Amino acid sequence: MSKLWGGRFSKKTQPVVEKFTKSIHYDQRLLEYDCWGSLIHVNILKKAGLLSVAESTKLIKGIKEILEEYSGKKIDDKYEDIHTFVQNTLENKKGLGKIALKLHTCRSRNDQIVFDMKSYCKTKSLELSNLFFDLCKVLLNLAEENIDIQMPGYTHLQRAMPIKLSEYLLAYNEMFKSDALRLQNYEINIKLTMGAGALAGTFIESKQYNFAAKLYLSESKTIVKPTDNAIYTVSDRDFIIEFLSILSISGMHLSRLAEDFVLWSTKEFDYIDIDESFCTGSSLMPQKKNPDVMELIRGYSGRVYGNLINVLVMMKGLPLSYNRDMQLDKEPLFDSIDVIGNSLSVLKELLLNVEFKKENMQAQLNDETLYATDIADYLVREEGVPFKQAHTIIGKLISEKLKTGKPILEMELEELKKFHEGLTPNVLRKIINSKFSVDSKRSVKKK
Ligand code: ARG
Repeated sequence: MSKLWGGRFSKKTQPVVEKFTKSIHYDQRLLEYDCWGSLIHVNILKKAGLLSVAESTKLIKGIKEILEEYSGKKIDDKYEDIHTFVQNTLENKKGLGKIALKLHTCRSRNDQIVFDMKSYCKTKSLELSNLFFDLCKVLLNLAEENIDIQMPGYTHLQRAMPIKLSEYLLAYNEMFKSDALRLQNYEINIKLTMGAGALAGTFIESKQYNFAAKLYLSESKTIVKPTDNAIYTVSDRDFIIEFLSILSISGMHLSRLAEDFVLWSTKEFDYIDIDESFCTGSSLMPQKKNPDVMELIRGYSGRVYGNLINVLVMMKGLPLSYNRDMQLDKEPLFDSIDVIGNSLSVLKELLLNVEFKKENMQAQLNDETLYATDIADYLVREEGVPFKQAHTIIGKLISEKLKTGKPILEMELEELKKFHEGLTPNVLRKIINSKFSVDSKRSVKKK
């Protein structure tokens, strides 16, 4: 391997230092982006008159061959990093040796890595955004299929009011839709630039750095522009931190859904059955069927937050401009992208294998206290009682029920009248009904 530096060194680098400083074992996933960057750079060098047409044609052919040969393949980790691998491989190609030596003209790895990582983040944010939209589709279908199911809704994890299961599933749809849109906006906001050099720019005219990147970034319509500030470009890792922040919010959403489903699958709730092909067992207790997938989705979100904090702390004390610490932005980012991508893939499949237990949910709706607000609302709407007063009246009715253990629906007219004239068994029979309750909520825009 020939290094991209070394002329001023007379001693060999200590093997322990080589091992410690290299990044090829993880930055090899940037191969395609590094090659795309090099293809663009060749064109810029050609426009600037630093490469002849023949030279640039040969270089482009060589880079495309590398793309073809090594995309998705494991790269030998004798190289320091992905840039070194591409450069070395080009130099070793027949007839390219001398020409390849020109490729690094007006270029620094400090700028290259920013281009690579920004292109990578663009691609991955769109991929993840699509996975979130896929998940939304699954939730929309589930909501539609289960439109008739009502269940107790909770606040403070205490039973609150009847709700539709579909509305619950659609709440997660809203969250995941916002994740998908956040990722799309993030992608749009990443601007690809070149020409920062190591930190001070290069001698090539800035206008030569205007380049239509869509030639190579087939998915993206982004163009490359000259950098507005070279120091900023090589110092900036906000785009990594922003991606990690977005993924942290997504991780939190995924974790909350996972927690709901873990709870609902307990014998205590028993609202859902997760198909056993999506569960695992216990090595000791033969009866166990555990929701490990959901637990791991919940658990992984902690790792995603850790990755965000990792990069924030790594960056916070760095003087401008490039510092080698910044090489350590990659593993946390790659990890969060993998973790969220994997969670989304398995969750989508799992959701297609969940049975919602309508009878069990319905049975819990017999709890009359769930309708306290509906009864108070009745007094407001039909009897003109101010809400605060109605709240107290129904509070007393519930307290009586809890004290005596007598169901409200079994109370006689005389008993009910003590609380309010307008409360009759007939009226209460109408109100203490989950369908009546959910249908009476009209403030939510119908989709
Ligand atoms: N591998 C480095 C990174 O990921 C880029 C190389 C810059 N190295 C240097 N010695 N200037 O940030």
